[in-house]
Amino acid sequence: MAKTVLVTGGTGTLGSLVTPLLREAGVNLRVLSRTARAAPYGIEYVAGDLQTGAGIAESVAGVDTVLHLAGTTKGDGEKARTLVEAIQAAGVFPHLVYISVVGADRIPVESAIDRQTMAYMASKREAELVVENSGLPWTTLRATQFHDLLFTMVSALGRMPLVPVFDFRFQPIETAEVAARLVELTLGEPAGLVDEIGGPRIYTMKELERSYLEATGRHRPVFTMKVPGKAARAYAAGGNLTPEHAAGGRTWEEFLAAKLAAV
Ligand SMILES: NC(=O)c1ccc[n+]([C@@H]2O[C@H](COP(=O)([O-])OP(=O)(O)OC[C@H]3O[C@@H](n4cnc5c(N)ncnc54)[C@H](OP(=O)(O)O)[C@@H]3O)[C@@H](O)[C@H]2O)c1
Repeated sequence: MAKTVLVTGGTGTLGSLVTPLLREAGVNLRVLSRTARAAPYGIEYVAGDLQTGAGIAESVAGVDTVLHLAGTTKGDGEKARTLVEAIQAAGVFPHLVYISVVGADRIPVESAIDRQTMAYMASKREAELVVENSGLPWTTLRATQFHDLLFTMVSALGRMPLVPVFDFRFQPIETAEVAARLVELTLGEPAGLVDEIGGPRIYTMKELERSYLEATGRHRPVFTMKVPGKAARAYAAGGNLTPEHAAGGRTWEEFLAAKLAAV
């Protein structure tokens, strides 16, 4: 019998690339979303919210695998806890697959300023630990920043007359490549913490911004700022990078050209 797979965050940037692949693989696909929506063929939508817990019991009933992608810029530890508690209460024992971020274990979020600048990293680490200590069979993949996210960032900053960037570097990866790896892990056996996945090249934030401005014909000064705090220093030192796990896929330049040709 086909496995029932719940995807949280199945409506997001990453999730919407994962769901067609899982459908092709022939699983019974269930997607959790805060917004009730009509179900397209082959997907069951369950309305629920990992912040409030509403609808989560229904979403996990009878599942064999849970691919947990739902996330925001903070509070992912809480969301993971809500999910795991609902799974435990439902008496099911699914393989729990989680998407985290490269650096979650390396960026020390200790002071008040760290919590302001790097709350996201702390919440991803908290969620990793909830998954790892859940008592369920689990798999966690840490990925670097997606092309789509960095495009949103550079295009938003590029509207400013003077463009501020941080002294950070990024190793952008094609979102579809992360989706494909996650599907492989979701259909496979629980593997614990697997090898990280990162994009093929590393760029300074300034290089990413300049490439966008140049490609869109904008002439703006770009200046680099340092972010205060220990966490930001660790980030600036490359804590969010994984050069030893660089995937050989689509580069930022290829992504940018295709993205701008499509808009
Ligand atoms: N973007 C990156 O560069 C990057 C890098 C590494 C790891 N990640 C991780 O990858 C995951 C997906 O990222 P993404 O860029 O695809 O995110 P996204 O486009 O912002 O999508 C977020 C998803 O989370 C769901 N969600 C948010 N809050 C929820 C809540 N309270 N209850 C239930 N669902 C909720 C949303 O569903 P509805 O709106 O339909 O409710 C949506 O499907 C996140 O966990 C993120 O931390 C991202």
